Amino acid sequence: MKERVTGFPADFLWGGAVAANQCEGAWNIDGKGPSVADHITAGSLKAPRKFTKNILDNEKYPSHEGIDFYHHYKEDIKLFAEMGFKIFRLSIAWSRIFPKGDEEQPNEKGLAYYKDVFLECKKYNIQPLVTLSHYEMPYHLCEKYGGWRNREVVDFFCRYCRVVFTEYKGLVKCWLTFNEMNTLMSRFGNVLGGGILPEDGEDLFGMRRMKEKETPEELSDRFTALHHQFVASAMAVKMAHEIDPENKVGCMISAAGVYPYTCNPDDMLEAQRAMNRSNWFCGDVCVKGKYPYFLNRYFDESQVLIRKADGDERVLAEGTVDFFSLSYYSSRCATTDESVKQRAGNMMLGAPNPYLKASEWGWIIDPKGLRYLLNEVYSRYEVPIMVVENGLGAVDQVEENGEIHDDYRIDYLRQHILQMKEAVADGVELIGYTPWGCIDLVSASTGEMKKRYGFIYVDKQDDGTGTMERRKKDSFYWYKKCIESNGEVL
Ligand code: BG6
Repeated sequence: MKERVTGFPADFLWGGAVAANQCEGAWNIDGKGPSVADHITAGSLKAPRKFTKNILDNEKYPSHEGIDFYHHYKEDIKLFAEMGFKIFRLSIAWSRIFPKGDEEQPNEKGLAYYKDVFLECKKYNIQPLVTLSHYEMPYHLCEKYGGWRNREVVDFFCRYCRVVFTEYKGLVKCWLTFNEMNTLMSRFGNVLGGGILPEDGEDLFGMRRMKEKETPEELSDRFTALHHQFVASAMAVKMAHEIDPENKVGCMISAAGVYPYTCNPDDMLEAQRAMNRSNWFCGDVCVKGKYPYFLNRYFDESQVLIRKADGDERVLAEGTVDFFSLSYYSSRCATTDESVKQRAGNMMLGAPNPYLKASEWGWIIDPKGLRYLLNEVYSRYEVPIMVVENGLGAVDQVEENGEIHDDYRIDYLRQHILQMKEAVADGVELIGYTPWGCIDLVSASTGEMKKRYGFIYVDKQDDGTGTMERRKKDSFYWYKKCIESNGEVL
């Protein structure tokens, strides 16, 4: 019998996470081409971000400057090292390596930049965990090819993967393929996840059209785009192993527990349906290497035709991932009762939970839901798990003396870490934790700066002002102690 573990394993990977389009800035510097994120305007909780075909002078595009990590990475990585990071999750902006996406040869300056970043991590013994695609597909691939709907994009992605796996062999050993690939299970994921462009000026998440039913053609396009990502992901996994047998590759799923709103069996079935769709479908394909049974009926009844190619089944079976990673922010309730008002939080709709509170942005806070999910994931897949995103987006106040007392963030993280510890004691093989936005960055859903997640404050404001100065928050010192004590001093 396996010895029961209490506390985090000695080699637990503590760290933090960011994504290129939300922090780097330098959107058109050193040969970088525009990504889909560079065409998304700033928004807020009330005013949705918009997609614009052209870059307009009278709009703000937060990814263009980000927090200028591009020029500040040395200073930032030094601060991560001071906190004791063992791992740093970041993404490569695909359009820095292949500016349009369909070129034969990569952009050498882009390659050199990430090499410097990885060497800087190495200097401090921080292992990079690299997401290959985090909501930043080259814009040209969306415009000319229709994004992931087009099979040719699989080849372009594989070319990009081959280049970076080869270039960074020995420097990077831990990879994630697509960030939150399951966002494509609904039209929320079309633009950032699938590169499927809406009308010029349309809101980012298709909220305006939310009440309209998607046509069978639209659904077929979306699920075909997802299928192409499954194939591309599996090919990338196989390639990574061939190029360096020490490479480990994971999938990345946006995970949220779904509870039945009441004990009415209808709500129970609805919760199961939602768990299958949002949490398990993509995970099953990536970890088990084949489509699960449970969406077949839906595909038939909704006339969804996924454009698969001969041999895809074999590709999926041969490219199963080494570990499972997830982002976790909240849980939601499911019901068939149409009189219950659904609310949006973390790009998902759900009925409210009377037992839980929400963040200022309406995201339900549920630390125990993380323990529940980790157990569910582990019993289903029995592979190592990493929590690669988690955190509280909140407004921070800089005091006159420059200090930032973010006890609300400390409390949120403490509660989640305690539940991860419980999950480890339950027997879950949890190997790492990289809280989201370890340094303040642009919010993906609203494009705001004021929705801050960091241990490190960045003086950059929504109106574009700010010195970009970095400042340690109270949570910085707290997380340092947490890492030092391997999660014992919280
Ligand atoms: C995840 C994304 O969904 O949530 C990140 O992978 C994102 O890119 C994070 O930033 C937090 O969401 P938001 O909208 O608060 O930035």
